[in-house]
Amino acid sequence: MICKICSSKIKSNNYIEHLELYHPDDYEDLLSEIISLNNMGETISDIASELNLSQKIISDNLSILMEENQEYDIRRPLYVKNWEPKDFKLEATTMWSFKQRGNWATHSGKYRGNWSPYIPRNLILRYSKENDVVLDPFLGSGTTLVEAKLLKRNGIGIDINPSAIEVANNNLRFNKNNQYHPKIYNTDSRNLEFIDDDSIDLICAHPPYANIIKYSENIEGDLSLLDIDKFLDELCIIAQELFRVLKSNKYCAVLIGDTRRNRHMVPLGFKVMEVFLNAGFLLKENIIKEQHNCRATGFWYQRSIDYNFLLIAHEYLFVFRKP
Ligand SMILES: C[S@@+](CC[C@H](N)C(=O)[O-])C[C@H]1O[C@@H](n2cnc3c(N)ncnc32)[C@H](O)[C@@H]1O
Repeated sequence: MICKICSSKIKSNNYIEHLELYHPDDYEDLLSEIISLNNMGETISDIASELNLSQKIISDNLSILMEENQEYDIRRPLYVKNWEPKDFKLEATTMWSFKQRGNWATHSGKYRGNWSPYIPRNLILRYSKENDVVLDPFLGSGTTLVEAKLLKRNGIGIDINPSAIEVANNNLRFNKNNQYHPKIYNTDSRNLEFIDDDSIDLICAHPPYANIIKYSENIEGDLSLLDIDKFLDELCIIAQELFRVLKSNKYCAVLIGDTRRNRHMVPLGFKVMEVFLNAGFLLKENIIKEQHNCRATGFWYQRSIDYNFLLIAHEYLFVFRKP
């Protein structure tokens, strides 16, 4: 590439060394520009095209700065390659299966038990329109709200765990459709008094599956600390709140899986469906979602042979309508 300052020809990989050596002042300016763009939530690819440099130069420098210089207020760089999934098509049947979980925008599978971004993308596109309000009462890493922002919906996200809020905020600090930046609350979804009756256009809910994965050690109200019966009792309260805040004739989607206890299947999915029906919702769709992280090898595979049971490889995505 050509040096923008002295016009000499340099290998792209050596560009930064060249700047450091021959144009130290310009190098400092370039670094502060990279930092400020990254702090504003620009992605590496955006910064690279804005400064007319390669993505490698930008990401190498951000990583070095993060390691060496704690005084810079930069968090994890946003390695966004694509803003949207390639060749996306709305799901058309009651059987959903995403072999690749989806890694566009800031999505990654790092938050334990997070859902594939294809799920909220399908729900948002099918059941809401631009400028609508989309609520996720179990925000986790913010997958739903990332999709809401990308698809120009006004997101509201709630999670009882402050670490989830931190992860979600980090995933949402990208510089795109900023007028749709969501509202996020670190609170308990059993009490949504700060949301008006009949004010939400779509709810995308992915609760803990009782205590199969614990999301905290001892946060009061964390549903992931409760065994099945107590979990269902508390979920009842949340279902009633969700019914209250949703506009009529709008949709509330809930993803939930089953579990096994003492050699038998516990149909947690159907029990959760009942909770939402009892809250007043009607069942619009019952979707089977294939699970791809279920390993048909190793410890559990061997146990399933030894004790003669089947490994659970599906979840339910219920779509409810408020009449
Ligand atoms: C299955 S995770 C959601 C994952 C999310 N869909 C994602 O993609 O990252 C369930 C979340 O519910 C949160 N949670 C548990 N009890 C809650 C409550 N009473 N109110 C709000 N959030 C709660 C947990 O902290 C956890 O982050």
